[in-house]
Amino acid sequence: MVSIEERVGAIFPEENNIPEEFRLKAPVVQKEYLNNGDLLVWNGDMQEVISPVWMAGPSGLSQKVIGRYPLLTEKESLEALDACMRAYDNGRGRWPKMPVCERIRHVEQFLERMQERKRDIILLLMWEIGKSYEDSEKEFDRTVDYVKNTVDALKDLDRSSSQFVIEQGIIGQIRRAPLGVVLCMGPFNYPLNETFTPLIPALLMGNTAIFKPPKFGVLLHYPLLSALRDSFPPGVINTVYGDGRRVITPILSTGKVDVLAFIGSSRVADLLKSQHPRPGRLRSVLGLEAKNCAVVLPDADINLTVQECVKGSLSFNGQRCTALKILFVHSSIVGLFLENFVPAVEKLKFGMPWEKGVAITPLPERNKTGYLAGLVEDARRFGADVINAHGGTVKKTFFYPAVLYPVNSGMRIYREEQFGPVVPVVPFDDIEVPIKYIIESSYGQQASVFGNDAGTIANLVDVLVNQVCRVNINSLCQRGPDIFPFAARKDSGEGTLSVTDALRVFSIRTIVAAKDAVMNKGILEKIVRERKSNFLSTDFIP
Ligand code: G3H
Repeated sequence: MVSIEERVGAIFPEENNIPEEFRLKAPVVQKEYLNNGDLLVWNGDMQEVISPVWMAGPSGLSQKVIGRYPLLTEKESLEALDACMRAYDNGRGRWPKMPVCERIRHVEQFLERMQERKRDIILLLMWEIGKSYEDSEKEFDRTVDYVKNTVDALKDLDRSSSQFVIEQGIIGQIRRAPLGVVLCMGPFNYPLNETFTPLIPALLMGNTAIFKPPKFGVLLHYPLLSALRDSFPPGVINTVYGDGRRVITPILSTGKVDVLAFIGSSRVADLLKSQHPRPGRLRSVLGLEAKNCAVVLPDADINLTVQECVKGSLSFNGQRCTALKILFVHSSIVGLFLENFVPAVEKLKFGMPWEKGVAITPLPERNKTGYLAGLVEDARRFGADVINAHGGTVKKTFFYPAVLYPVNSGMRIYREEQFGPVVPVVPFDDIEVPIKYIIESSYGQQASVFGNDAGTIANLVDVLVNQVCRVNINSLCQRGPDIFPFAARKDSGEGTLSVTDALRVFSIRTIVAAKDAVMNKGILEKIVRERKSNFLSTDFIP
């Protein structure tokens, strides 16, 4: 039988061993960027994009080059801002004034075009960030559903706003109005989904936007560029690419961005916010790092707990903000837990993104395997073992999952967000240990509790709900279903996203009010009857 070490050693394929349908026929060279409704051609410096997937060849392994994209400068990014501001025109532009039903038509047109490019986008997701075919397809479909559900939610919102209220002698109509210019930046682990889940609601609410793709996961947006150009009026959506200091700092420093929608690290989020000269005027919608923990109680159902903890900690190599990043397991059950957990980890299929059922794939971040190996080394120095055979074996960008036990507070892995396939397991006797951990943590996204006793779980829930924003009972941590609020405390986020919340977060309730007097009633009636205003209107979208 071939050992895990040997299999990891030979993990990268030769080009001709890749199934035809998953081959990237030629590098994707993107020269255009979207500015003010035009795809402008860039003749300056380009960024080479390399895949996390290496190729085996006669002269050894080489990292696959998959394409190039423009490295824009301050000049182009400020032009994008100008275009965006012109399209918004202080709320007087065609887009912010457009009736909601028309904005919906633009988004639906884009969605149709997006679906035509499904295959290309999925292929690039796989090659750019190493996401498995199944997960890439899920990300695409989930994004399409999200947009459809957002449109439905907006119709509901519009219907409930299409009436006047009379209160204490005042007639009012309350609607949600846009905020202005939105700067939108998604993360590399969900580059499609977590770009469009803020971007589409922001546009639907009448804002205009500048969008910068994440560092890894740029080219997969290229097939959408002409659809974005054709589906929206000029300047409503503009794209920038390149180094954040060159293309983002200049935009934020103008103070002209009204909303920052950013999913990434709290370090970068703090930096971005500090670059805005009037932080009080900047609304931020942030999804940041987390260190979600599982608390496994003595009476937990072992099979279920193991299954959820494996999925929770290792789906997409643990590269989810919601991943379970530390497991606290009661000492009375930790032996049994590990006896089942380790084989379950060993059963996970590892390999290339196109392999059916693959769970563990190469990592896109530069020298990520070195960083993870450092965490493992540090934990070993402070008394933990890698308890799965060959855990932590590295081949170039591939890191075979490592289960660390027993982990204690002296180790870096105890606090640092690994964002990769390393699973620390901490034994505990006193429930105060995980509770104290959660209270003292810099992060506050979610937690999972595994157990069977209603009283114990209730007590724990009542403590945890004041520390994190979602407590999962006998289940992994996750964002979905997308109708649920996705929020976080402390350094893990700001604002709430969900199909309905995103519409709210990118808009503000605005009222037109008048005293209930004959003259005012006459004016309002005439405006409504003769459809003179988009805001003051009782029309609703069927
Ligand atoms: O990376 C963070 C994502 O928002 C997590 O989403 O729980 O659906 O994987 P998920």
